[in-house]
Amino acid sequence: MSSVERDPRGEAPDAPWHLIGSRKPVFEEVTVTDLQVKGEIPRELNGRYMRNTANPQTGYTEHWFIGDGMVHGVELSEGQARWYRNRWVRTPMFEHPGVDRLTLAIDKEKLTFDYSVSAANTHIIGHGGKILALEEGSFPYELTKELDTVGPHTFGGKLAGPFTAHPKFCPDTGEMLAFGYAPIPPYLTYFRVDAQGNLVQSTEISVTGPTMMHDFAASRNHTIFMDLPAVFDMELAMQGGMPIRWSDDYPARFGVMPREGSDDQVKWFDVAPGYCFHTLNAYEDGDDVVVYGMRVPEIWRDTPDMDMSNPPPPEDMPRLYQWRLSLSSGAVKEGYLDDDASEFPRIPPSLQGHRNRFGYALGGDPANGNVGGQVNKYDLDDSATKEIHKFPQGHEPGESVFVPRENGKAEDDGYLMTFVWQPETDTSYMVILDAANISAEPLAEIHIPHRVVSGFHSSWIPDPA
Ligand SMILES: [Fe+2]
Repeated sequence: MSSVERDPRGEAPDAPWHLIGSRKPVFEEVTVTDLQVKGEIPRELNGRYMRNTANPQTGYTEHWFIGDGMVHGVELSEGQARWYRNRWVRTPMFEHPGVDRLTLAIDKEKLTFDYSVSAANTHIIGHGGKILALEEGSFPYELTKELDTVGPHTFGGKLAGPFTAHPKFCPDTGEMLAFGYAPIPPYLTYFRVDAQGNLVQSTEISVTGPTMMHDFAASRNHTIFMDLPAVFDMELAMQGGMPIRWSDDYPARFGVMPREGSDDQVKWFDVAPGYCFHTLNAYEDGDDVVVYGMRVPEIWRDTPDMDMSNPPPPEDMPRLYQWRLSLSSGAVKEGYLDDDASEFPRIPPSLQGHRNRFGYALGGDPANGNVGGQVNKYDLDDSATKEIHKFPQGHEPGESVFVPRENGKAEDDGYLMTFVWQPETDTSYMVILDAANISAEPLAEIHIPHRVVSGFHSSWIPDPA
């Protein structure tokens, strides 16, 4: 039980969108072992499904992205759901609830910045035998498989700055590719971590200025950086809010670099101004590098407010988009592939960096203002037509993760997992869908007698083979 004093603004009738409904924080850490299951959990799924969320201990934050990280997890073993747990990540921000982040991070006497000051709230991944909670402004945090915090992870002291929440995992080499961005030089640093978890490359990359670089992309032989007009603003930073604003003056560019390359090998492409929080995948097609992502025309021109109770028109929502970058001619072809909103894109891990036919995303339901409500399965070989799994009215799924079926042959031979919130009981369930037939009834629902707060990114972290 959290004994932290609550901020009444989180409970007020006009509490912001990111603190109500499925996003309302929970204040208890629980372990539940008698979970009710509807359907059948495939026996081959042995491991843990985890989701990271922003869950402020005080019950209030100005912005959705800055609440204390809380990880929710379910362990599956031999057809059984063994437990559900939720745990805050123990960081300096957790230990000092409500205290301004910069106050904790900056040592004014020594003029140093402590990158262990993190919300650790954005993603949860497994690599090199470690489970890491990630947030792009700081060091990763290592957790146990029971979700207890081990501490900040710096790859044996080799990491000196921030580490993205969106690393890519190469299915061919086992590498984890990543980057870090910062408001002070170096603005961008590229990282390569080998299959065993050793940081083997740190390369500074020249960009126009300090921007928010939430994600990147990786094809089999190239790394793609998105240097887009969401720029760091010192004035906003001093006000304590989200320190990012849109700039009409900042050039929008994609940079393509050989995977083990250097700054002088980055080939830059001008693209249409816009923002992409999340890429789906990238692959090489002859001399072209193709990138799929969820694009919006712009973000945060007037305010970084993200109130989706009054969503913008579909054309201003994130939608599936393709950039085709010619390494031989420097030409760019780009455009939307879908008229409907979608976000949180995922692919089978075996196709990271390779041409994929299917992509999965949280779909926008027009009946719900185009926000959430369904899982989309895009067929990229068929003009990005989509199959849909529609949840009951009002139910809110999150990012769904593809898990391949053992000895599966087809690309969609596998499972999709996500947590779903149901408003009528204010509880949640973990759902397992058949990815080859996503519109069908779920294979299994694991009911959790608590709210699994809607949040950010998730992973299936299997037991070692
Ligand atoms: Fe993200």
